[in-house]
Amino acid sequence: MMKKNILITGGAGFIGCHVVKLFVEKYPDYNIINLDCLTYAGNLENLREIEASPNYFFEKVNLLDVPELEAVFAKHAITDVIHLAAESHVDRSISDPLAFVKTNVIGTVNLLNVAKAYWGDLENHLFYHISTDEVYGSLEDGGFFTETTPYDPQSPYSASKASSDHFVRAYANTYKMKTVITNCSNNYGPNQFPEKLIPLCIHNIKNNKPLPVYGKGENIRDWLYVVDHAKAIDLVFHQGKMGETYNIGGFNEWKNIDIVQLLCQKMDAKLGRESGTSEKLITYVKDRAGHDHRYAIDASKIQKELGWEPSLQFEEGIEKTIDWYLENEDWLNNVTSGNYQKYYEEHYGG
Ligand code: NAD
Ligand code: TYD
Repeated sequence: MMKKNILITGGAGFIGCHVVKLFVEKYPDYNIINLDCLTYAGNLENLREIEASPNYFFEKVNLLDVPELEAVFAKHAITDVIHLAAESHVDRSISDPLAFVKTNVIGTVNLLNVAKAYWGDLENHLFYHISTDEVYGSLEDGGFFTETTPYDPQSPYSASKASSDHFVRAYANTYKMKTVITNCSNNYGPNQFPEKLIPLCIHNIKNNKPLPVYGKGENIRDWLYVVDHAKAIDLVFHQGKMGETYNIGGFNEWKNIDIVQLLCQKMDAKLGRESGTSEKLITYVKDRAGHDHRYAIDASKIQKELGWEPSLQFEEGIEKTIDWYLENEDWLNNVTSGNYQKYYEEHYGG
């Protein structure tokens, strides 16, 4: 059996850091190479626990830099790719769509090209692409996204992810590259950048700042604890059928306003505030342009075929998440002050 040298892109980001930690700890025989250019969303502090592991390597490289990508494949004799690096925030995609085309579309095609050229014989190598349920568009109050739901992306973010998914399938069809794609619902948990709904609210409740709820707060998302997503990625990487797509979801739909209220109640209790205090911070603001109404995943394929299920109930996951943010004040302070961006220089001297 060939030794695996797995390139994980976007490993300094929210989901990527949980995937890197899982693989580094669970598979000491694999080398894990984290490739990340450290945008505002990349934070090497997320990987502090494992950065000294002998099977972990970090490469500060941008997906848009092809010669650098080629050098990383050669230096580490990359055998497989798990591709998570992306621009990931819908609101940012509305103000700067081109950044999403560059990283999510061109960056993915660059990575496909470099992998294809380096591997030559594509038989024994896997290109695993991580995607989102947002490619399927928006649902009304009934129905679920399945693996055969037609793509209908509605935001610049989801359009760029849909495009990258199409390229991955095109490389599987045209060049017989071994690929697999998973489309997951909204993740939450430790290490999420506080621009996304849940960490933003935790941060603002703690600091008595307004909680901006878009529109009427009636939009619905399906939420999954990030570690359960990482475990699903491990399972699909090792046991998924090549060329397939698997949807991953939490069987856990919530209206935004209900989540914000739940966070207020739980944090009032934890912070010793009188019940109802934090709810006063809720502020209804202008709706997001083109705001998708509802995402809901039918995750029965991965459940039946690979035996995957979320391990945490939402209330338990939310408790763990709030506790993590309250216990890791330094992480949050470093993010809000910008200090986290000095970590690379200080620890890697680069
Ligand atoms: P994130 O924004 O937290 O992290 C993205 C990482 O990619 C960062 O570390 C960033 O520095 C890196 N990166 C960005 N552009 C790059 C470039 N050009 N070259 C190299 N590195 C670059 O994102 P996330 O929430 O962890 O999402 C990871 C992946 O999972 C993305 O592909 C996203 O589309 C997908 N996804 C996310 C969710 C979610 O709820 N967050 C749900 C489903 C799928
Ligand atoms: P977000 O965390 O940005 O994820 P996504 O847009 O990929 O689903 O947003 C989750 C939901 O919360 C979405 O319906 C938009 C809404 N939202 C707010 O109401 N207020 C906020 O400040 C943010 C960031 C999001």
